[in-house]
Amino acid sequence: MNIEKIVSLCKRRGFIFQSSEIYGGFKAVYDYGPLGVALKNNISKIWWKAMTQHHENIVGLDSAIFTHPKIWEASGHVGAFNDPLVDCKQCKARYRVDELSTETNPDWGKMTCPNCGSKGSFTDPRQFNLMFKTSIGAVEDDSSIAYLRPETAQGIYVNYLLVQNAMRLKVPFGIAQVGKAFRNEIVARNFIFRTREFEQMEMQYFVQPDQDDQSLNEWKDQRFSFYSQLGIDKNKLRFKQHGPDELAHYAKEAWDIEYEFPFGWSEVEGIHNRTDFDLKQHQEFSGKKMEYFDPVENKRYLPYIIETSAGLNRMLLAVLSNAYWEDTDNNRVVMRLDPKIAPVLAVVCPLTKKDGLPEIGRNIMDFLKKEFKVIYDQQGSIGKRYYRQDEAGTPFGITVDHQSKDDQSVTLRHRDTQHQDRVAIDQLVNAIKNKIGEF
Ligand code: GAP
Repeated sequence: MNIEKIVSLCKRRGFIFQSSEIYGGFKAVYDYGPLGVALKNNISKIWWKAMTQHHENIVGLDSAIFTHPKIWEASGHVGAFNDPLVDCKQCKARYRVDELSTETNPDWGKMTCPNCGSKGSFTDPRQFNLMFKTSIGAVEDDSSIAYLRPETAQGIYVNYLLVQNAMRLKVPFGIAQVGKAFRNEIVARNFIFRTREFEQMEMQYFVQPDQDDQSLNEWKDQRFSFYSQLGIDKNKLRFKQHGPDELAHYAKEAWDIEYEFPFGWSEVEGIHNRTDFDLKQHQEFSGKKMEYFDPVENKRYLPYIIETSAGLNRMLLAVLSNAYWEDTDNNRVVMRLDPKIAPVLAVVCPLTKKDGLPEIGRNIMDFLKKEFKVIYDQQGSIGKRYYRQDEAGTPFGITVDHQSKDDQSVTLRHRDTQHQDRVAIDQLVNAIKNKIGEF
């Protein structure tokens, strides 16, 4: 399956639009339409619950996007958050070095440009920092520099003692955060997979230094099994360990959870052992003690940090790719989204616009909307209305027909099987709740 089909469905049905489209589009930035924002929020809520509700010792945080610029010097991002790039002198195409070769020192003279086919026409690789710089205040000079955060993690590290004290937490404990991050990605492609503005769902778990390996393994298991909650097929997921030359500057050990996207296996989430690297750096750069006091062992130390870092947009793209189904027998496209995350749970359709059917439909809307996200649609043939909702991923269709007037029942249609049951209107909420389990 081709990613372009998902791009086109996303636009058609109001999931995702290219940013600034009327101005010709703004590269590697996307806007989320009514269905996209609902789906994104539903995914992020499940993650938040899995972290902060299912674990007594994980709490939430929402730190600001702007931070003191020293944070990014301490974290190593000013010095080391670089992508090496090369340009083709013939056709001007630009590549990240790791896109062209997995070798540390490839022979550039033999390398062929994938765009124009010319040989040995690449410039020498040069380092390009991925952080966006801006300036704060009336005067633009070196003292007004601020960076847009390239990861949410640092906001957690610099607040961790405040959070720990306020919530009286004992190691091991975690802090979770969902928020925007920004990277000046040079090679941005594959729709929302790699964009310049994106959202991360990160959790930093603070452990005793000698507990790091065990904790990393536990989090690897937990994070892998999380994806079944989104209805993602586990055969389309795998782990990939970072080799020594792929490790980020802060990591001792790192694993990616990869999904098999239409364009191949690619990272959705990273699980990293960041050791005490970040806390040590902040201690040095801020001059403030970052040690945790362990009341049981009666000693102070810098905890080690196990990080789980997922891209919300990538997770959403995995969900969309997983859900996309061409039902060739019935000549329709269906987004087989799990009812837990579907933007709309049911559509209410009066068969005709007359004979009192819309009134019954409106009454049904009134009580259903207290339970679920439902929409009302009386435009066009019933078949067209169903197919529109199949593409939107709506699990149920409720149709009010002439029989409804006689016996106060409606049909309840299942999106994937198209099977229809006759259900009493006053039993509709229960019937839907029962059927959610069948997906
Ligand atoms: N705090 C660690 C960290 O940021 P990362 O592997 O650079 O680690 C974590 O990023 C996750 O953030 C990735 O697995 C990916 O899902 C998401 N991500 C990173 N860069 C992205 C981009 N340009 N566009 C969309 N998502 C991105």
